[in-house]
Amino acid sequence: NTEIVIIEEENIDREAITRAGKIIKAGGLVAFPTETVYGIGGDALNASSSEKIYAAKGRPSDNPLIVHITRIDALSFLVKEIPETAYKLADKFWPGPLTMIFHKSDHVPKRTTGGLETVAVRMPSNKVAGALIEAAGGYIAAPSANRSGRPSPTVAKYVIEDLDGRVDMIIDGGESVIGLESTIVDLTEEKPVILRPGYITKEMIAAVIGNVDVDRAITDEACSAAPKAPGMKYRHYAPEGSLMIVEGAAQQVEAYINERLKSGRAEGKRTGVIATDETAGHYHADSIKSVGSRSDKEQIARHLFRILREFDDENIQVIYTESFEQQGVGAAIMNRLLKAAGHRVVSL
Ligand code: TXA
Ligand code: MG
Repeated sequence: NTEIVIIEEENIDREAITRAGKIIKAGGLVAFPTETVYGIGGDALNASSSEKIYAAKGRPSDNPLIVHITRIDALSFLVKEIPETAYKLADKFWPGPLTMIFHKSDHVPKRTTGGLETVAVRMPSNKVAGALIEAAGGYIAAPSANRSGRPSPTVAKYVIEDLDGRVDMIIDGGESVIGLESTIVDLTEEKPVILRPGYITKEMIAAVIGNVDVDRAITDEACSAAPKAPGMKYRHYAPEGSLMIVEGAAQQVEAYINERLKSGRAEGKRTGVIATDETAGHYHADSIKSVGSRSDKEQIARHLFRILREFDDENIQVIYTESFEQQGVGAAIMNRLLKAAGHRVVSL
């Protein structure tokens, strides 16, 4: 049985947090809010907790978990050595939506790292997450709180939909303010490499540590190399309906999408569009959702996953989306959208 509790960031219910921490210390699972997306938390130092996380999520067990901490000395416990670049990045971006990869220490079980000798570590800024990590002893392994393959949840409603009955407790802490998973940067090679784009952009990282690469498997669709973050190879974020990205000049995109929606309706399909505030009024579909204003990429990032889920709630079978520029957080938005669409793009 899953207990569901509401905990507000600005008024933390200490009694509930203590109870949640005890569940994790005893080897149980608690789903909790972070500023990026909700996570399924278990004791990162307990191999059987990690095992339970994989089972609850229905996730292949070669896909490693991120360890969440609240203090920098917890990092020394988890990793073999901390490169200078890590201190610089932590100084600037922790607590926050950045995950760094290190060579792991012997304290971290291989069940937590999916069999790897490296470990991913993040210090979240969400205060409910922070309080829970401390109550649980300082080390929470947590993947996103979706069943494997589905869009990551940014509101508790979708955590409950995916995990009710599969975890001991779900903490409802409202909407995630960022809405996309953390940026992952690998510090185990000579040159830092971004393995997953996110809210902290390549430019922001480069401004702190100089040059940084992006894993070619992410930027280059034709690249046959496996992505270094095992999770990036799986089909992900997909809504149940078929999703197609359309790119080109705005008016052509609208005309093309409306044409395709018309055929969809003629075939008796339920149709949907991911539009923007600027264009939402221009479409004809069963469900038209604005992801935000084109001039506000942060807003688009925050709304994208929730909108993908809402189409499922409404049984939408055919979905078309506008495309977004890859600058700044746009790189992360398009990375998630391309995965959700199975890389199906029409270029006009
Ligand atoms: O924002 C986030 O990072 C959220 C919240 C809950 O913190 N967590 C999250 O976890 O997105 P998850 O498990 O859904 O994604 C973790 C990604 C996967 O793609 C995984 O393969 C990669 O991180 N990863 C974890 N440890 C790694 C390692 N040692 N080496 C390479 N990639 C790793
Ligand atoms: Mg995930």
